[in-house]
Order: sequence, then C-alpha cells, then structure tokens
Amino acid sequence: MSTAPVEVDIDEIIERYPGKQEYLIFLLQDVQSAFRYIPPEALELICDHTGVPLSQAYSVATFYKSFSLKPKGEHQVKVCLGTACHLKGGERLVDDLERKLKVKAGETTADLLVTLETVNCLGCCALSPVVVVDDDYLAQATSGKLNKKLKSLAAQ
Ligand code: FES
Repeated sequence: MSTAPVEVDIDEIIERYPGKQEYLIFLLQDVQSAFRYIPPEALELICDHTGVPLSQAYSVATFYKSFSLKPKGEHQVKVCLGTACHLKGGERLVDDLERKLKVKAGETTADLLVTLETVNCLGCCALSPVVVVDDDYLAQATSGKLNKKLKSLAAQ
C-alpha cells in the first residue's frame, strides 16, 4: 500500500458546499479526511470560498485536535497516558516508540507512515496499558506487541 495520501482535488471538495461561513468546519473535515491534514493552500481556498478570514480559519484548525496543519502518517499510533495506563508503563511504551520511529510524540515519521500521539484515558482502563493503532486497540500493550504491529504496518 502506498503511503501517499489519496489523490483528491481540493476544488472538488470545496464545490461540495455553498460558499458560506457556516460550512467552514465541514470543509475542514473533508480536507483533513482526504489529505490527512489541511494543506495551507487548501485553507486559503476554503477562506476564499466561504469568506471566513484566514486568521479565523487558522484558529479553528488549530483549536480542534481532529485537525492538523502538518501532514499526518498513514497510520496513527496513540498511546494512552491516562492514570491507569501511566501506572502500567505507558510512558515507557512512548519512549520505546519514539526511539524506534525516530520521532517525538506528536510527530510523523519522515516516510509519512506513522504519526505517534499520546492521549488521555480511552475509557478501557482494565486493559491498560492501551495503545490504539488506527482502530485496533492493543490491550496490555508491550514493546514486543508494538514491534510486531509496527512491522505489519510497514509490510502493508
Ligand atoms: S487510563 Fe488508559 S484507558 Fe484509562
């Protein structure tokens, strides 16, 4: 599988919605979903289309955690650092992943394969420490389990 984002035309996304300010969030969501981030040129085109000032659109795009102004990886690895997961070694898992992936939490690998993030309690503390890889919850996660998972992502 390619690590490049799906080929999507920004204009095609913009034409989905009327040029009104209330469609800003919908446009940001669609662009984020298509490109895994919001490219600067897309933000400008959205502002031109909706009439939302660039500074306001930028504020919205940086306020919501679901939006990113930096390219995201094809795969998201989220390590829970809520209290239960922290006590069961979540921090150590983050350290291992940072070393292995050569990024800090919040960053994306140079090949755009993986974005590493930390999150607060995922609501399944009995399974701690928990790591979510895309939509796959790894219970009682260990570095060994994560290594295996990372290898499978690289092989896709
Ligand atoms: S603290 Fe990690 S799932 Fe609750």
